[in-house]
Amino acid sequence: MDLKLYLSRKKKIIDDFLGNYITSKKKNKDCPAKLAEAMGYALLAGGKRVRPILAIAAFEAAGGRSKGIVPVAASLELIHTYSLIHDDLPAMDDDDFRRNKPTTHKVFGEGTAILAGDALLTDAFNIISKTKTDPAILIKVVSELSHGAGPDGMVGGQTVDLMLEGTKAGKKDLLYIHTHKTGALIRASIRIGAIMAGCSPAALRALTGYGDKIGLAFQIADDILDITGTKEEMGKTTGADDARGKNTYPSTFGLEESQKMAEKLVNDSLKAIQYLDKKAEPLAEIARYIIARRN
Ligand code: IPE
Ligand code: IPE
Ligand code: MG
Ligand code: MG
Ligand code: MG
Repeated sequence: MDLKLYLSRKKKIIDDFLGNYITSKKKNKDCPAKLAEAMGYALLAGGKRVRPILAIAAFEAAGGRSKGIVPVAASLELIHTYSLIHDDLPAMDDDDFRRNKPTTHKVFGEGTAILAGDALLTDAFNIISKTKTDPAILIKVVSELSHGAGPDGMVGGQTVDLMLEGTKAGKKDLLYIHTHKTGALIRASIRIGAIMAGCSPAALRALTGYGDKIGLAFQIADDILDITGTKEEMGKTTGADDARGKNTYPSTFGLEESQKMAEKLVNDSLKAIQYLDKKAEPLAEIARYIIARRN
């Protein structure tokens, strides 16, 4: 299969939805123009749309057909973008550059950036609530998403990432940070796609195993690219982890070993979905792409 074409087609579907979403925010008299502007600035700045694409790919792998997957997948990007806006704030990673542009707080100020993040987080759930799908399924989606993004998931990971900044974390804490700050939302994205398709428990287990592996591999690759990538490729400042004393896989295990660990995770992710049929091929290709990417 042509992965590049697959990714660009799915990305366009998500980008179109997000573009319309921001247009409607800008028209909504109850949403302050400056807030809608900041939300659109962050959300429509590019971005690979990996989480929505994974949700759609898992949905298709599980035999799903309904159109309701698009808004639900897009809601994952609202949550992800909120997490990036907040991650870049001076109180967190203090980054000035993201998705090839100055960060949201650099352009709109910290207060508006925080609120744009809050707005995206909240509206993600509003979008899900308005999706035309069996409400019993939507409740499961809300449960998955709030769990993956919340204190037991992404926010928990971000908390320990900050708490242990500048110290030498043990391997257990490092694993916690990575599987939570990044792994949890990626895992949730895949599970949400499967749940939207009305997946069997066995297939859901297989896809969850896949999600766990690639979620961790994704953050290991991000850590590696912070060292080996360039600002031009990544669209964000590189070398930032070392400068801030972040606990990363390369800082703990070295570059080469980290690369090997990521490769092993990808191989394991492929094993997890080996009994799914040909519809799971895009997931296998995405897993390989996650550690081969340059941005
Ligand atoms: C960056 O995520 C933050 C991490 C969780 C590693 P992405 O690499 O998916 O960033 P975008 O969305 O493509 O900008
Ligand atoms: C970010 O991890 C994880 C979340 C935003 C939840 P990083 O701090 O490594 O992400 P980048 O490198 O700034 O994109
Ligand atoms: Mg961070
Ligand atoms: Mg960061
Ligand atoms: Mg990083």
